[in-house]
Amino acid sequence: MATHEPTSPLAASLLRESGDSFSTGAFSASSKGRLTPHDLERFPGDTLFDRIGRAVCDAGCLPRKELYEAWETARRVRRLFRGGRIVDLAGGHGLLAHIMLLLDDTSPYAVVVDPAIPPSAAKLTASIAAAWPRIDRRVKFREASIDDVALEPSDVVVSCHACGGLTDEILDRATFVRARVAVLPCCHDLKSGGTGNLTGWVDGPLAMDIMRAERLRSHRYNVWTQTIPAEVTPKNRLLIGAPIP
Ligand SMILES: C[S@@+](CC[C@H](N)C(=O)[O-])C[C@H]1O[C@@H](n2cnc3c(N)ncnc32)[C@H](O)[C@@H]1O
Repeated sequence: MATHEPTSPLAASLLRESGDSFSTGAFSASSKGRLTPHDLERFPGDTLFDRIGRAVCDAGCLPRKELYEAWETARRVRRLFRGGRIVDLAGGHGLLAHIMLLLDDTSPYAVVVDPAIPPSAAKLTASIAAAWPRIDRRVKFREASIDDVALEPSDVVVSCHACGGLTDEILDRATFVRARVAVLPCCHDLKSGGTGNLTGWVDGPLAMDIMRAERLRSHRYNVWTQTIPAEVTPKNRLLIGAPIP
């Protein structure tokens, strides 16, 4: 079997699980199974990723794929965007917001907005705050819809898997105030349109995401189109935009 050097914390973690090959066979990063204290040994190192992994295991409430999705999204966004209040829209447990703060302490605080915040989100926050007291109380939860939260031009708006048209609403809200924004779209609703008649060349969800990128550009945004590893999620297109001053 071919061997590979790990190129990322994800690869390293999967390598540890699978012996000597980059394989998702033994430990799938895309699993919806919860990480619990039984999984602690999967994250033995001193890297930030492993330390976050251990905090997530201690909390015992987060689907495994959410750890990898949030990490892979946050590290890409933080390479481009420093500082700013973090606004994690449709944020669920809010792990993305936490990791954004851990990766750049110059952000004052983060807000996670979701009308159905999971009760276990508090466990996750407590577990991360125990490991990093400096972010204790700097992640706030708002049980609300995205429409109920005022955005500021200095914000960094992030959203991981806001279903269907919710991603478009997030892009609209962010561009309205000219905030930096990053979304990882999912659940593309092709019936709602928005494919720009591109489906003769590319599949419907890709057409929608291309149109989203073009919409950002039409608002005078610089656009970055990236992907997170497909081993984590097939809905892996990351769309990032920053207003051109
Ligand atoms: C697929 S989940 C993603 C959760 C989280 N971002 C993640 O990556 O695990 C979609 C989330 O959108 C939330 N949601 C639905 N309608 C919303 C709205 N109008 N405003 C904010 N969040 C909403 C749901 O409650 C749910 O938590």
